[in-house]
Amino acid sequence: MRKKLGSRRIILKAPWEIEKLRAANQIVADILSELRGLVKEGVTTAELDRIAVERINQRGAKPAFKGYHGYPACTCISINEEIVHGIPSDKRFINKGDLVSIDLGVILDGYYGDAAFSCFAGEAPTEHAERLVRVTKEALYSGIRKAKAKNRLGDISCAVQNVAESHGFGVVRKFVGHGVGRALHEPPEVPNFGVRGTGPILKKGMVIAIEPMLTMGSFDVEIMEDGWTAVTADRALAAHFEHTIAITHKGPDILSKGFI
Ligand code: MF3
Ligand code: CO
Repeated sequence: MRKKLGSRRIILKAPWEIEKLRAANQIVADILSELRGLVKEGVTTAELDRIAVERINQRGAKPAFKGYHGYPACTCISINEEIVHGIPSDKRFINKGDLVSIDLGVILDGYYGDAAFSCFAGEAPTEHAERLVRVTKEALYSGIRKAKAKNRLGDISCAVQNVAESHGFGVVRKFVGHGVGRALHEPPEVPNFGVRGTGPILKKGMVIAIEPMLTMGSFDVEIMEDGWTAVTADRALAAHFEHTIAITHKGPDILSKGFI
């Protein structure tokens, strides 16, 4: 999401609510897993979106993004220098070697699921591009490992930033992760940069989406004329991974498990 949640209270979820959130996130994970197999040269981003819509309906869920602040589609599909919020289009064909990021959200029984991944259509064009995608995923998992009761939110942010910057990649500031529950975006904001030992104390029952966006260059962002598509200001490649996770007495529980 775009930074803006402010400091409203973090809503803790009961175990039964975490199971509702898991059900929604499992639908997201299953659909993303299928879409990942369909990212190929010659496919349009609108075709991928239509498949997502069909699967969401089959599972008795509803798309979470469509209509969100006027967003026109069910998925966000962002290619190469596009970071997030790319709008699927019948005119947008995936080319060989493209870095494709797909973000999907659903609502099931009033609870939200939200997750995303990046991959290549065929082989990565360069070793550097391959590393960008690998490190973005690594940064996500490094953040997830810090999502434990009694840690602080800044521990997650700091871990993500450290992985990214130790490999020389930029961390996008303009968009952040977020709480997930009966709304797509709840407090707290989960930045991908920050200072260890700062921010709210993490508690059992918190559910958050951690979603690092890394770039091969600077972290400055521009929004295209469609009002949505966020691209790197220097047009360098960007990658995005996202999991929704619950903080439990046993540590982080990945609710959108299984697709990355
Ligand atoms: N995962 C993204 C986010 O949390 C997706 C939002 S797309 C929108 O911001 F269309 F719903 F805005
Ligand atoms: Co999100």
